[in-house]
Amino acid sequence: MQTVHDLAGLRAVARAWRRQGQRIALVPTMGNLHAGHFALVRRAQQCAPRVVASVFVNPTQFGPGEDYAHYPRTLEQDQAGLAALDCDLLFAPTVEVMYPYGIEHTLRVQVPQITEVLEGAHRPGHFDGVATVVAKLFAMVQPDYAVFGEKDWQQLQVVRRLVRDLGLPLEIVGLPTVREADGLALSSRNQYLDAGQRARAPLIHATLRWMRETAAQGHVHAAIERAAVARLQRAGLVPDYCAIRVADSLLPAAGDAHARLIALIAARLGRTRLIDNLPFAAA
Ligand code: PAF
Repeated sequence: MQTVHDLAGLRAVARAWRRQGQRIALVPTMGNLHAGHFALVRRAQQCAPRVVASVFVNPTQFGPGEDYAHYPRTLEQDQAGLAALDCDLLFAPTVEVMYPYGIEHTLRVQVPQITEVLEGAHRPGHFDGVATVVAKLFAMVQPDYAVFGEKDWQQLQVVRRLVRDLGLPLEIVGLPTVREADGLALSSRNQYLDAGQRARAPLIHATLRWMRETAAQGHVHAAIERAAVARLQRAGLVPDYCAIRVADSLLPAAGDAHARLIALIAARLGRTRLIDNLPFAAA
């Protein structure tokens, strides 16, 4: 597997593939790769004969006081993991390659409405940073497919809207969340948890399942959300939200029996903020 850090290197490789009529699937990541990322790469390999994984810790999607400076950077380990999977190319650009005019003066991509709720409300500007860097990666790699994990459900919907609104010629593929045996969703941030926090973290998934079951029994969503918050608080977690929404719009469900719904939770365990979700059919 080749690694390139600049646009000239990326274009040379991608151009050669396209000349041979080979399609390209992109797996955008921030590195510190785990089994969840590797599942995305394997899914990308089913989509296209050539797979590019990008590793870039994107400064514009971190808010003040978030973990940008401390976000784990493990490029050599990531390279080895991707090579073992036969990934074709690792694109690991510098901040200067991604933001040639500097972060302050960069072009910004803003997806309205869906970015203002849930994660967007708790992390102002986060999705502007995600949409901006993802649009840049799409322009640079020009993939036919891009694969994203469903763990970041709202991000996946933001990216789908970005692609549709700009009429970009690629297909977005979502992959169900990869979990530990006890239900905890795989995340680079799990490594921040101490032993006691790690033991309590699966309660997030358990609460999502409880929300799904209670909704299926016909209980009012607002009451379920309040009870879910209380359940997490009793175990010492600090929830930002427990919500039941329409899965693709993330708006509150308006009683449409055919709507696909989703339960979503963001909660802190100590200084670590975890998110997870569970899609389900309306009762
Ligand atoms: O999900 C992530 O790892 C990041 O948000 C992404 C999509 C790579 C953009 O930086």
